[in-house]
Amino acid sequence: MLRNKNIILGVCGSIAAYKSAVLVRLLVKAGANVKVILTADAANFITPLTLATLSKNPVYTKYFEEETGVWSNHVELGLWADYMIIAPASANTLSKMANGICDNLLSAVYLSAKCPVYFAPAMDLDMWKHESTKENVSKLLTFGNIMIAPTSGELASGLHGEGRMAEPEEIISFISAIIRKSLPLIGKKAMVTAGPTYEPIDPVRFIGNHSSGKMGFAIADELARLGAEVVLITGPTAEKNKQQLQRIDVITAAEMLDACTANFKGTDITVMSAAVADYTPVNVAAQKIKKTETVFQIELKKTTDILAQLGQLKDSNQFLVGFALETENEEEHAKAKLIKKNLDLIVLNSLQDKGAGFKKDTNKITIFNRSADKTTYEMKSKVEVAKDICLEILKLI
Ligand code: CTP
Repeated sequence: MLRNKNIILGVCGSIAAYKSAVLVRLLVKAGANVKVILTADAANFITPLTLATLSKNPVYTKYFEEETGVWSNHVELGLWADYMIIAPASANTLSKMANGICDNLLSAVYLSAKCPVYFAPAMDLDMWKHESTKENVSKLLTFGNIMIAPTSGELASGLHGEGRMAEPEEIISFISAIIRKSLPLIGKKAMVTAGPTYEPIDPVRFIGNHSSGKMGFAIADELARLGAEVVLITGPTAEKNKQQLQRIDVITAAEMLDACTANFKGTDITVMSAAVADYTPVNVAAQKIKKTETVFQIELKKTTDILAQLGQLKDSNQFLVGFALETENEEEHAKAKLIKKNLDLIVLNSLQDKGAGFKKDTNKITIFNRSADKTTYEMKSKVEVAKDICLEILKLI
């Protein structure tokens, strides 16, 4: 959930500031880009050096660093962040946040930030129970800020009660769960095919194609990033999925057909981007074929068109996307395939465009839907193309 997200961690003056080292470490491990802002008091509890080393970014403490002459732009920092976490949030900082007081870098960035703000209070039990703190917290909740509630236990004062900052692991899972719930494809199941298939001729040779699997992997990752539970069925490829998903490796068109039919039931979105072999050898030689013949022929039979088969099987709640790779009469062929294979969307790849196609990192596509709408896109990275395709799916489901 936190991969590639920009996170500002604001640390206030509280003994719980020592936990921010673990929090930074966990955020970085989860793939987030972390920038830390320390209040002056927080710097008495934990050193900027520790947090700079762990976050791999400079730590911000003031608007202006006298030694280096660097000005920390609070507006820029606020706009950079996808999420702001204030942990530990002291009674003093909560009060500033609730009342628009802006006398240090952390409170200025808070006022400048447009992103969701999470705060994890940490203070002694009587401070936490005080009417003033209660009022500040409820004000922050009405602003839409999200509290990660303190827990009960032994406090730094030696007293027992509520006011202990949530543990870093709890903070991470709390935020991840909220982000997850807000994803548009949460609760949806998706199936994606990718890569080529290899059709064996003998134990050492096969008929294959140039598909790298890059496009299909980018789509599977994007669907997973949007919250879907993804099954990725892939032919032989060097690609690695970046998101968590169920990956099924196959080699032949027949294996891909079996994996697709076994997984299709219950899927909400299916995207078939694999370059499946249309023909496969009738007989596979048990031993390596010797080069005794001057002219050598291999008899081939048609494979099952998996996409067309799924088009027959699908019910009205299932959304099916196919690809078309054409070299002539591209649009007519693509539109004909959309109808013939009973698809909801077809993505046309052209081999005419430089930079698009097999093994490239970029692609240029045109999408047609059932209402005969046509959308043409610029040449983009396959990751960006995957985003465009998923956005189009989101619009229609
Ligand atoms: N496809 C499939 N099973 C096959 C062949 C193709 O599922 N045996 C799917 C591909 O994953 C793609 C779509 O069908 O989504 C279109 O593939 P393409 O090769 O462009 O076209 P074909 O339908 O095979 O037709 P033709 O080769 O005649 O253009």
